[in-house]
Amino acid sequence: MKILSIETSCDETAISIVEAHGSQQNARFKILANQLASQAKLHARYGGVYPMLAKREHIKNLPLLLKKVLTKAGLNEKKPKIDLIAVTHGPGLEPALWTGITFAQELACKWKIPLVPVNHMEGHFFSAMIKRSQTSKNPRSLTSRNFKFPILALLVSGGHTELVLSKKFLKYKIIGQTLDDAAGEAFDKVARMLGLPYPGGPEISKLAEEGRKSLAPLLNKEGVGGGNSKNYHPASGTPPRRGGDKIVLPRPMLKSPNFDFSFSGLKTAVLYLVRDLGRLTPALKTEIAREFENAVVEVLVTKTIAATRKHGVKTILVGGGVASNKHLQKEMSLVTQRLGVALHFPHPKMFTDNSLMIALAGYFHRNDKKPAINKIRAHGNLHF
Ligand code: KG4
Ligand code: ZN
Repeated sequence: MKILSIETSCDETAISIVEAHGSQQNARFKILANQLASQAKLHARYGGVYPMLAKREHIKNLPLLLKKVLTKAGLNEKKPKIDLIAVTHGPGLEPALWTGITFAQELACKWKIPLVPVNHMEGHFFSAMIKRSQTSKNPRSLTSRNFKFPILALLVSGGHTELVLSKKFLKYKIIGQTLDDAAGEAFDKVARMLGLPYPGGPEISKLAEEGRKSLAPLLNKEGVGGGNSKNYHPASGTPPRRGGDKIVLPRPMLKSPNFDFSFSGLKTAVLYLVRDLGRLTPALKTEIAREFENAVVEVLVTKTIAATRKHGVKTILVGGGVASNKHLQKEMSLVTQRLGVALHFPHPKMFTDNSLMIALAGYFHRNDKKPAINKIRAHGNLHF
């Protein structure tokens, strides 16, 4: 079947056409067309996503992207041979979500085809369950991975940080989540404090990598965390001595007896540190970026592994924008190799927000009882 998928939950307008066959572990997908218009540059001047601007841009982009995907897939613009439309209905920014939903509703009515509402986070989940087909030379051919349950997904994006346990196909339970800021949001806010542009994750990550190359590693033998005795803790209020002490940031809730996260204290620690330091030299920025990334990654990895042990998890998926963080990828693979657990990151086109993952989720939900087309609503806080 051919699926048209639409994603407008945040600052990316995305539409794809995907051909899908098979079920669960035998599902096969072919990307017929995939278009994405990122608004990141527009939002950069506000240091984050500005919802009404996002809405305006989505409204402008949607018809243009639709035309492009239909042409690319060789389909008739008036009555294309599409079998299903999948649209993100949450979570996300409601004004932005509504643009995609109303656009999808109009198309579904005009073309008289079913419309399936998709949970954006489930899209991130599926983005790591799919890989490039080994049997086809075409990079646009994808297949399901041979995954084993229970699956634990660490979903880390600009709006969410969740540990989702799945013991059965399409059944999910959130077993941990952030109590305040999402991991990506913390990356974005800390980047802003360091004078780096939005989105901050890739910028911090770049600096942190430079820092790791030029300075002695902070990592201990376990692969995560570390530091030595001569450490500077921002909470102490004592400015670091240059050339000796290392900057050490807190690892919030690292030892808490649950799988929840908190990143706002870490963000505040950076805020105090930056205030204490006064002028930030490039070397200090690099060191802060490195230590901040170490702290976030250590908490994410430690909690994921604790949940893996407790629930006898066989497959770990990591999805969402922060999954593209190289340090997180490296640390996760080190620890999971030791544990003998399968680890999967998203297909390269599906790390950050995209509509391919919405097509995958829409396909797997194609047989669900669907709400009437005009009853589909935006749910900013939609949960699994
Ligand atoms: O999944 P996503 O594209 O959008 C949401 O659903 O929020 O995630 C965007 C987030 C942003 O906060 C961005 O800074 C972060 O993912 N991000 C990263 C990296 N690339 C993107 N965070 C850390 N390291 C990266 N390399
Ligand atoms: Zn997302």
